[in-house]
Amino acid sequence: MPERKNIGDNAFILPEPMTVVGTMYGGKPNFMAVAWVTRCNYKPCLMAICINKKHATSESITANQEFSINLASESMLEKVDAAGLISGRKLDKSSLFEVHFGELKNAPLVMEAPLSLEMRLHDKLELDTNTIFVGEVMGVWTEDQYLTDEFVDIEKVRPYTLTMPDNRYWAVGRQLGRAWHDGKAVKNQLKG
Ligand SMILES: Cc1cc2nc3c(=O)[nH]c(=O)nc-3n(C[C@H](O)[C@H](O)[C@H](O)COP(=O)(O)O)c2cc1C
Repeated sequence: MPERKNIGDNAFILPEPMTVVGTMYGGKPNFMAVAWVTRCNYKPCLMAICINKKHATSESITANQEFSINLASESMLEKVDAAGLISGRKLDKSSLFEVHFGELKNAPLVMEAPLSLEMRLHDKLELDTNTIFVGEVMGVWTEDQYLTDEFVDIEKVRPYTLTMPDNRYWAVGRQLGRAWHDGKAVKNQLKG
């Protein structure tokens, strides 16, 4: 048996997806890099983002009850990193991306993102350093160039991922299999 060791409590589930969250701050769009994001309810479609309470984004979401989540593609890497390096409290980040708006007037959508979600605040959970903002998806914006047979196509979108705590970005690799499918033979063995 290999010897397993406990490496402490600063844990991450790898890899983490990279997104840009958009809000309106001081009457202008503000963007921040966000890796701690996940869908968290089936119906209605809810997404959770975990935002440090110090960030301007946290203040904007609380004030406006609206925000956007934009999936980042490889071509956006440097601009998204910049959005994560400095606060909107110190620097106007509104010129980083071109924006458009859907239904919600406080959810600026990033034009160059392959997928942009308009979010209305549904709930929030205050933790020690971070707030989990749960938003309901009010609209999903994309372009034909990112779709194959009406599905968002990961090879066209080219998302990238993050590893922490070593803080490195990674491309997404090849398809490995099919979900809700490739475990069927193993499941049948379990039945005996
Ligand atoms: C790659 C990367 C991922 C990040 N993910 C998160 C995150 O999930 N949650 C968070 O609170 N901050 C995260 N940050 C930090 C914020 O993006 C950063 O502090 C930003 O300047 C906050 O901007 P704001 O004050 O304008 O809202 C991340 C930064 C980087 C570079």
